[in-house]
Amino acid sequence: MDVRETIAGLKRRKNAVILAHNYQLPEVQDIADFVGDSLELSRKAAALEASVIVFCGVHFMAETAAVLAPGKTVLLPEVEAGCPMADMINARELRAWKARYPGLKVVCYVNTSAAVKAESDICCTSSNAVAVVNSLGVDRALFVPDKNLAAYVARETGKTLIGWDGYCHVHHRFTPRDIEEARARHPGAEVWVHPECPLDVIDRADKVLSTGQMVREARRTTRREVIIGTEKGIIYRLAKENPAVSFYPARDAALCVHMKMTTLDKVLRALETDTFRVEVPADIADRARGAIEAMLRIG
Ligand code: 13P
Ligand code: SF4
Repeated sequence: MDVRETIAGLKRRKNAVILAHNYQLPEVQDIADFVGDSLELSRKAAALEASVIVFCGVHFMAETAAVLAPGKTVLLPEVEAGCPMADMINARELRAWKARYPGLKVVCYVNTSAAVKAESDICCTSSNAVAVVNSLGVDRALFVPDKNLAAYVARETGKTLIGWDGYCHVHHRFTPRDIEEARARHPGAEVWVHPECPLDVIDRADKVLSTGQMVREARRTTRREVIIGTEKGIIYRLAKENPAVSFYPARDAALCVHMKMTTLDKVLRALETDTFRVEVPADIADRARGAIEAMLRIG
């Protein structure tokens, strides 16, 4: 039997749902019940009725699902699929850093471990970071771990954000020259970049969007050509949903190997063997949930 059919049969038998991030391999996106950005996937995990969530993404996303869906089995098909940026700060480091800034609130990007979220006041994703920081009602806050997102949000909100020295190696490598060269190759194309890119790249873009916002913008746009400044896996979905628009990667090498570790065979193995189960100790989960729910309340 075809692997897709076997997955579909097992999914039904186990009352499982497959969630996939926008950067996943095309064949994985195609078998998913829901494809989305970090915020959309968090909301979905919180609302699901299923008993099993197979999370095709990276470890922090599956952890977020486990925190928001206590009692459900959350499976990460590839145990090595982590996010190098999320690994740039741990709870011990954050506690020590907070001690240097008594009284300052901590905003953590969703790309963090549950233990780091548990040490934070509020979580954010790339699509709501500006609203989250504005909601705090303070002029200064700590922001972990993405220094590029911190710089962008600080500029948008006019607040002082003291950023941890972390970054996404995929987005941090975009340069102003990438954007200029892509524009030269495709004159007339609009440029959309992700807010994990450095500010000098953001300054050369027409729009700054999370991956979910790119998906929605693509449905609305009247442009026929768009240059995409994020992990290029999203281009599969953009092109599939909008055949009249041509999407070009701003940088051909913009690939997150961790996002590509999940294959159909590994999704099948996950369902057959109930691996790899992602669990968060209850005390950490309770505190992390506080930071995530504070974000979800903002809407
Ligand atoms: P979003 O999909 O929330 O824009 O996040 C991008 C990302 O890098 C996830 O790892
Ligand atoms: Fe982490 Fe960047 Fe990969 Fe997203 S694209 S999972 S932020 S390394």
